[in-house]
Amino acid sequence: MISVLFVCLGNICRSPSGEAVFRKMVQEAGLEDDFHIDSAGIIGWHAGQGADRRMKAHAIKRGYELTSISRAVTPKDLATFDYIIAMDDQNLADLHSLDVAASFRSKIFKMTDFCRECTHTVVPDPYYGGPQGFEEVLDILEDACAGLLERIKKDHELRA
Ligand code: 4NP
Repeated sequence: MISVLFVCLGNICRSPSGEAVFRKMVQEAGLEDDFHIDSAGIIGWHAGQGADRRMKAHAIKRGYELTSISRAVTPKDLATFDYIIAMDDQNLADLHSLDVAASFRSKIFKMTDFCRECTHTVVPDPYYGGPQGFEEVLDILEDACAGLLERIKKDHELRA
């Protein structure tokens, strides 16, 4: 089983969307039995809540149902997940801070590292902005998740 954890600040907008976009791609590739996919937030302010309703509304228009419940990332997540994917530079820095002994650096990535078409270097936080921000999040995630799946397939010699 290959485990992938998407991480943003609140775990109600970007990382639940990353989780849903990636899960759909994995299902379409017939690889769902090979993967454990989850998401978490740097902060626990929204713990126990479903995803942001604006994010949900934009996602469902593209066929992604956001079902995850927000939770904070834990040091144990760093030890147990194989790929830990941060949405922006602050998330990345915060994950590195949580990785006190720097034992898990090699499995902590930034989502945009896997972009193939888009030139963004972060997935921008849409929380305080307008509708276009949510669409932009999904555009970047669709591109980057495709690149991430290709990377994992290569790493693990998966065929689909
Ligand atoms: P996310 O968006 O990190 O993509 O889930 C945010 C959600 C909540 C807050 C900030 C960003 N907040 O400040 O509560």
